[in-house]
Amino acid sequence: MKYKSVQVCRYGGPEVLQVVENDLSPPAAGEIRLKVLAAAVSRPDVTVRRGEALYSRTPLGQKLPFVPGYAVIGDVDAVGEGVRESLLGERVGALTVVGGYTEFLYWKSDRLIPVPAELDPAEAVPLILNYIVAYQVMHRSARVKTGEKSLIIGASGGIGTALLQLGQLAGLKMYALASKGKHDILTKYGATPIDYRAQDFVEFIRQREPEGLDAVFDGMTHLDYIRGGLSLLRRGGRLVSYGEPAGFSTLFRVLATLLTVNLLPNGKSFKLYGTSFYFVGDKRPFLEDWATLFKLLREGKIKPVVAKKFSILEAAQANELMESGQVIGNVVLLAPGVS
Ligand SMILES: NC(=O)c1ccc[n+]([C@@H]2O[C@H](COP(=O)([O-])OP(=O)(O)OC[C@H]3O[C@@H](n4cnc5c(N)ncnc54)[C@H](OP(=O)(O)O)[C@@H]3O)[C@@H](O)[C@H]2O)c1
Repeated sequence: MKYKSVQVCRYGGPEVLQVVENDLSPPAAGEIRLKVLAAAVSRPDVTVRRGEALYSRTPLGQKLPFVPGYAVIGDVDAVGEGVRESLLGERVGALTVVGGYTEFLYWKSDRLIPVPAELDPAEAVPLILNYIVAYQVMHRSARVKTGEKSLIIGASGGIGTALLQLGQLAGLKMYALASKGKHDILTKYGATPIDYRAQDFVEFIRQREPEGLDAVFDGMTHLDYIRGGLSLLRRGGRLVSYGEPAGFSTLFRVLATLLTVNLLPNGKSFKLYGTSFYFVGDKRPFLEDWATLFKLLREGKIKPVVAKKFSILEAAQANELMESGQVIGNVVLLAPGVS
């Protein structure tokens, strides 16, 4: 039997994504085989495909060809030697980083995320990456409290819309940056929109919040936003950057700013957030937070904004849309038969 994946053979635009056919084989010892139901199309998929992700530019970077796709949800359809049989048929998620644009995924059995089977896979898959980032940035890095004043930079995207929903749920007062045509989604979740192209966000917020902000969530990791965000924090305020820096020189300048800010006795803190801690650190906080997020989804307290659904084999069109700058929220790939 055969199955299909979508592969990157050379770095470039969405056109380099090609459908390839593979043999369906049993999973190796310690692994499971997952029949993929939904895969997220995320911003890191774009940078890794273009060879622009920071780690792509290091000796540890992804070797060509590779299948992109940072996050999936599916049903376990075979287990390898040493893996408990009771996993068969279970609905699970995987934070793959790469490998998700595929009909079947081979994955380590100790890296599975339990997913309630009754949830719509298209709404559940954004929780595996975009919502875990938003939740941990807000609740683990910034440790927000009800009523706090916050700013979301990059508010209309996959992680930004998750921050808006979680911020509304947490009772935050929110200011949010997005281009003008995307402001409706910001007001829908109770944020005050700011058009970053036409308005000076520092001036705008300073006039309305002279005592300063409690938290800034920065999806750009650009020095101008970091400096602006820091200048708006009150004493005790926290800025968390989770975006991928544009290059190593930006990364080094951001790290230098981080050291300086955290050493200065001004009561402000600056943290960087990355999902890489899931792979090198304690997985328990991640599993706890995914469980919380799936509960919130089941209870209808969060509802991912799904801009468009494509079939898994239409990953190139989905990536084209992602790169068009028109997307509000998430783009999702679905297996045949999943609506
Ligand atoms: N730390 C981690 O573990 C982790 C995990 C996943 C993703 N990321 C990174 O997080 C960042 C955001 O990801 P995402 O999935 O939310 O991306 P996304 O869905 O592409 O959204 C990014 C948003 O930023 C806005 N934007 C673009 N340029 C801007 C600018 N100059 N100023 C303000 N806003 C601007 C865009 O919309 P408008 O400009 O039209 O409003 C867009 O809505 C990316 O850098 C991604 O690589 C990090």
